[in-house]
Amino acid sequence: MGRRKLVVGNWKMNGLRAQLPEIAAIGELAGQHPAVEVGLCVPATLIEAASGVSGAAFIGGQDCHQKASGAHTGCVSAAMLKEAGAGWVIVGHSERRMDQGETDADIAAKALAARAEGLKVILCVGESLDVRDAGNAESVVSAQLLASLPEGAAADWLAIAYEPIWAIGTGRIPTMEAVETMHVALRAALATKIGAEADGMRILYGGSMNGENAAELMAIADVDGGLVGGASLTAGKFAPVIAAA
Ligand code: G3P
Repeated sequence: MGRRKLVVGNWKMNGLRAQLPEIAAIGELAGQHPAVEVGLCVPATLIEAASGVSGAAFIGGQDCHQKASGAHTGCVSAAMLKEAGAGWVIVGHSERRMDQGETDADIAAKALAARAEGLKVILCVGESLDVRDAGNAESVVSAQLLASLPEGAAADWLAIAYEPIWAIGTGRIPTMEAVETMHVALRAALATKIGAEADGMRILYGGSMNGENAAELMAIADVDGGLVGGASLTAGKFAPVIAAA
């Protein structure tokens, strides 16, 4: 136990240099809450500049290729992210699983590639509304997690983000009970593969987390922070989320 809360903004395909003052302001917020680990995963084009102004907040990428280099037009390697100033990277976000057709095996390989460069990793999992409605959410997401989990998964370099797909950007969230049930199930699934290491691994909630619901979500025992989209785009909206952690 004793898991330090982790609150990470995922800026997705948002952010130009004009937003650097916002990143600096978020960095200042992070400095005011040293008990919480705060980060921002920005577009690859912004990593270097963001790293120069982000203060106490770490900067991360939103994806990396599983290979170190090669003929992969438009892709970015873990070493490139690292060189630009990233300390973390998200892998397996549902938007990439859907838009880019990434498989569980791809995602495990991406996580390993990131690890090989010394990056920390947030691995995303989550169910569709059909799965939720069918009553299979815990078993489906647990299976997805185990299939995406890289070899050597350990709490000092890997965190999990549970993001129900239907909650992303919709303003809808599961009931607190459903979030708790899922996080308990995911930790139990992790334990089947990594044993006691699962106790230290942070499991974040993501999907319409904001200043109004963050405190309740993060008060759930197995919720170790948040992966935040829309509400991380300005310091004003992100502040209450960070404070809630
Ligand atoms: O990765 C974070 C994300 O998918 C949640 O987005 O905008 O619902 O907070 P949002």
